[in-house]
Amino acid sequence: MSLAVGEPAGGSTPASRISMVLLAAVAENGVIGRANALPWRLKSDMQHFRAVTMGHPLIIGRKTFQSLSRPLKGRTVIVITRDRAFAAADVVVAASFAAAFAAARGDALRRGVRAIMVVGGAEIYAQAMPHADRLLITRVHSRPDGDTLFPPVDGSIWRQRTRIEHAAGDEDSAAFAFVDYERVSATPTAHRSRGDHETAACLATGR
Ligand SMILES: NC(=O)c1ccc[n+]([C@@H]2O[C@H](COP(=O)([O-])OP(=O)(O)OC[C@H]3O[C@@H](n4cnc5c(N)ncnc54)[C@H](OP(=O)(O)O)[C@@H]3O)[C@@H](O)[C@H]2O)c1
Repeated sequence: MSLAVGEPAGGSTPASRISMVLLAAVAENGVIGRANALPWRLKSDMQHFRAVTMGHPLIIGRKTFQSLSRPLKGRTVIVITRDRAFAAADVVVAASFAAAFAAARGDALRRGVRAIMVVGGAEIYAQAMPHADRLLITRVHSRPDGDTLFPPVDGSIWRQRTRIEHAAGDEDSAAFAFVDYERVSATPTAHRSRGDHETAACLATGR
C-alpha cells in the first residue's frame, strides 16, 4: 500500500495539507477489540502500525492507551480522557477530541509531517470518522467475538484506493489485507453526532 502519509513533508507543512488518517485493524464482522485487548495476534500488522505511525502525532483513547504493552516511542502520543487527574509519562493529555486535534495539528506542523494518526479505540474512531480524510484499514480475515466495533465504511463516502492481500505470517493468527480508503464526499450531516459541532468548528479553523 502507499505509505505516503508516513513520509516527512520535507520542511514546513502548510496547515491546509495536514490530513487526518484513521488507522485500524478490523475483522470481517467489524470487531476491533475484546475485553480491552486485540482479539488476534498479528505481528505483521504491529510492524505495519509502527512503520506508518512513526514520527507522527497519534490520537488515542484512554482505554486503548492503557491496554498497550509497550510505549509508542518516536511519536507524540495524545491521550483523550475526561479524567482531569489522568497522568502518564511522555504523553500529552487532552480533555476532548477537539483539544486532541488542536494539539496533534500543532505537533504535525512542528514535525513537518502531513498526517495526524487516529489509532482508536472504538469511541475515538466514531468521533473522528466524520472528519477523517483517509482510512488505513487492515482487514483481518476472521470473525472473532468482540465488544468493540469499527464504524461502517460507507461506500458513498469512501473510495478504496488500494488493497493488498497477505497470507498469514508465522506470527499471525489470520490472513489480512491492507486497504487504503480516501474520502470522496463529505459526511452527510445526518451522520454527525451532537458533540461533533465543537470539533467541526475546530477543524474548520485549523485546516
Ligand atoms: N483493532 C484495532 O485497530 C484497535 C485499535 C485501537 C483499539 N482497539 C481496541 O478497542 C478497544 C478500546 O476501545 P474503547 O472504545 O473501549 O475505548 P477507547 O476509545 O480507547 O477509549 C475510550 C475513552 O476515551 C475517553 N474519551 C472518549 N471520548 C472522549 C471525549 N470526547 N472527550 C474526552 N475523553 C474521551 C474516555 O476516557 P475516560 O474514561 O478516561 O474519561 C473513554 O472512556 C480495545 O479492545 C482495544 O484493544 C482496537
